[in-house]
Amino acid sequence: MTQRVSSPGTGGCLPGKANVGREFLARVQRDYEKLATQGLPLKLEAYLLEEYGADVSTEYAGLPVRNPWGKASGQLSMNLRQVQEDLDARLGFVVLKTVIAQNESGLQSMDAWAVREARMDVETILGRDGEPGWTVTWKGRGWWQSFDEYLDLVRQSQAEAVPSGTLIVPSCKFHLPGPDEVDWRIDEYEFSTRALLTAWLSGGGEQFSAMPLEKDFSPTLAGSDRATARARIVEWLQRVPVLIRNAVSPATGTNSPVRVGLKVFNAMFEDDFQLELLDTIHAALPADRADFFVYGNRLFDPDREFAGHRGVAYGGPDLSDRNLRVMAAFAAEMNSAGRKPIPWSATGNICSGKMAIEYALLGATTFQLHTYFQLPLSEYVMSRGTRTQRALHELYFHPERGYLTWLEHIRQSAGSDHLPTIRDLPSLCEAVKVR
Ligand SMILES: Cc1cc2nc3c(=O)[nH]c(=O)nc-3n(C[C@H](O)[C@H](O)[C@H](O)COP(=O)(O)O)c2cc1C
Repeated sequence: MTQRVSSPGTGGCLPGKANVGREFLARVQRDYEKLATQGLPLKLEAYLLEEYGADVSTEYAGLPVRNPWGKASGQLSMNLRQVQEDLDARLGFVVLKTVIAQNESGLQSMDAWAVREARMDVETILGRDGEPGWTVTWKGRGWWQSFDEYLDLVRQSQAEAVPSGTLIVPSCKFHLPGPDEVDWRIDEYEFSTRALLTAWLSGGGEQFSAMPLEKDFSPTLAGSDRATARARIVEWLQRVPVLIRNAVSPATGTNSPVRVGLKVFNAMFEDDFQLELLDTIHAALPADRADFFVYGNRLFDPDREFAGHRGVAYGGPDLSDRNLRVMAAFAAEMNSAGRKPIPWSATGNICSGKMAIEYALLGATTFQLHTYFQLPLSEYVMSRGTRTQRALHELYFHPERGYLTWLEHIRQSAGSDHLPTIRDLPSLCEAVKVR
């Protein structure tokens, strides 16, 4: 039965240093240096396959994507220029900024989340165990322009993405009843889901079999009185997939035009509650279940002040520690019950290929990043290209922290004759675990 989290500590299972042969390391090092000045190969996935035998194709929301790297929803996917840069960098998917749902008359019950805010501070942060990392501090929330402008962004982004096949994913914050509310604003679910799907399809989205839609349960909810009652939060996770799906079609799975994803937030309760949320998602009957989930949005510090505002979300090493710890416990629970989780995408302090692999060992099939795509340029070795391209260069090729080095480490530890795919990784978790 449910194995609960008992002690704190990092959830990662990889050792500090990769155990990789000299020859492999020299090859990665050569590429790291060469590509830093030349730029990434245009057909990067083909290059990785030919040179290293690394197949990085995978699935997001059960839909095929050419690689696992995605832009997480936020300030870096607010306009077409930003999306275009990510298409040029050939990200696997781009999650657009979260829009606040509305009904046909323009009523937004969650309008407190449509806050305009430009200032963002990218800062270093120390985790509880002293590990250094990065966090972005700001006090904004969701999309603050009109809903129609968001629909334009969906349509235009999707149209631009057609040639590259990058998946464009809208994100929406729908109504969630607070502690004293009884009713759900179903009209907001209906109007917004239909409008988003129409925009996505008119941009050419039908090349994919369905539109993935992330439902944002943002970390700022953790600090609002809406999120004070556990039972209420559990109820949100139970009801939301049904309401979104029913807005367009009662069909489920591959027959539904929308794939419903729940972006689970870190609530202000203990790890056990996070597990309860994951259990809740999986306990639903197939017709009522989310198609995928994203784990796990940032932590919330109710006491910290920023720009005259009390209570901010933060990330960094404590976020990935918590996420990995919870997901490790959840994976163990699923394994012992002989069950598999629905597809999930990882988010939270993914600032290296190594960290991405930590999440993949626990079952994540894609990685969505925000913070790592907005570091100072001095943090990337590559001397050309956009931040997204520079970040990808580090994520794949960094000799100590990169994805290739850690795939090779796992290949060696597992005694395999080829580099594992992302789908292979969960079954190799035990073989690579540091004890
Ligand atoms: C400035 C900023 C704005 C964000 N806005 C949103 C948002 O609108 N919707 C959402 O679902 N997540 C939002 N996020 C959360 C990110 O999508 C991401 O899940 C989270 O920051 C963890 O990833 P990271 O550690 O790579 O930053 C935001 C994060 C930051 C830093």
